[in-house]
Amino acid sequence: MTDPIQFDDWYDKFNRFSGDLYPGRYTRDFVRDLVEQGREVAALAKQKDSVIVAHNYQYPELQEAAVEVGDSLGLSQFVGRQSKPRVDFCGVWFMGETAKTIVGDRARVYMPAQPGCSLVQSIDHARIESWRRQNPDGLIISYVNTDARTKAMSDYVCTSRNAAQVVRHAADHNPGKRMLFLPDKYLGAVSLAQSKVDADLVDLYDGGCHVHAKIGESALDEAYERHPEAELLIHPECGCASTCLAKIMNHESEFSRAFYLSTEQMIHHAAASEAREFIVGTEMGMLYRLRKDVPHKIFHPVHPEAMCEYMKENDLAKLLYSLRHDEIEVLIDEPTRRKAQAAIDRMLTIQ
Ligand code: 13P
Ligand code: SF4
Repeated sequence: MTDPIQFDDWYDKFNRFSGDLYPGRYTRDFVRDLVEQGREVAALAKQKDSVIVAHNYQYPELQEAAVEVGDSLGLSQFVGRQSKPRVDFCGVWFMGETAKTIVGDRARVYMPAQPGCSLVQSIDHARIESWRRQNPDGLIISYVNTDARTKAMSDYVCTSRNAAQVVRHAADHNPGKRMLFLPDKYLGAVSLAQSKVDADLVDLYDGGCHVHAKIGESALDEAYERHPEAELLIHPECGCASTCLAKIMNHESEFSRAFYLSTEQMIHHAAASEAREFIVGTEMGMLYRLRKDVPHKIFHPVHPEAMCEYMKENDLAKLLYSLRHDEIEVLIDEPTRRKAQAAIDRMLTIQ
């Protein structure tokens, strides 16, 4: 049997597609270590009948070790379809919790580390409970970037890909009811505008992600100055999300080339677009996937510091350790899991 991981292949890909993102990381010695770890990871995953998945922001070597790489929604759907007894999830903790919520007893879910997320940390459960008390008939729509407890308190979950559809669906099926959208204020504002739901009926929580908050108007203006011909791919969590939307609606010339997209949608959009160059308004790990999957086009990071240190807590050595020692397992108490699952299932039926 031929060895699927080759040093030359990894060394070339990591440096060609992400040398500028992680300067100095992919030396020959380091890649040699990664290849060894990658081979052991593949062998152990086979032995333990595990499916490895990775979010688009993960280091290239984790993306290569995974059988599926994607955005929050895509990975949730993929994990829901698979039938293996074990999932090794490379992403942040709420993503592992979402996977566990979906698979329940069917599979054990492990993660290489226990990374947080600033958006999740901006949630105060007492505030949600208080909103619920004041609005007993109201609807809570929470972004997938939430802990299992918040999802369990929610009526619907949504992701960056389907937030506007979920908000529209919730409003259509519950006319006149108040809604709370949490925790991301930028995604909330964009979804409200896109879904054309009555904004007076919606309370927007004021959370945000520190990585995307850096992608404000000045970062965008500077990126457009450097690359005037490029199309702009914006993640709706960005700090510039609301002002960009206003500029798009005002038909400001550059913004006729701006698109709100989840990380996975960025791939499809870039492949289908007639543009040759793109400014990528999200965490920089995304550029590895874009450059690898759409190799004939050019991708620029919008901001050189848009790096999520939580996502980067995972690495191949930790994944190997996790597979060897069966740690760190994601566990959720069953009543919370069932309630969270109901909210996720409601979302999945809207697709
Ligand atoms: P996506 O669902 O678009 O991949 O976004 C997840 C995330 O954490 C964005 O920061
Ligand atoms: Fe959380 Fe932001 Fe990191 Fe995404 S990029 S995982 S929202 S901190």
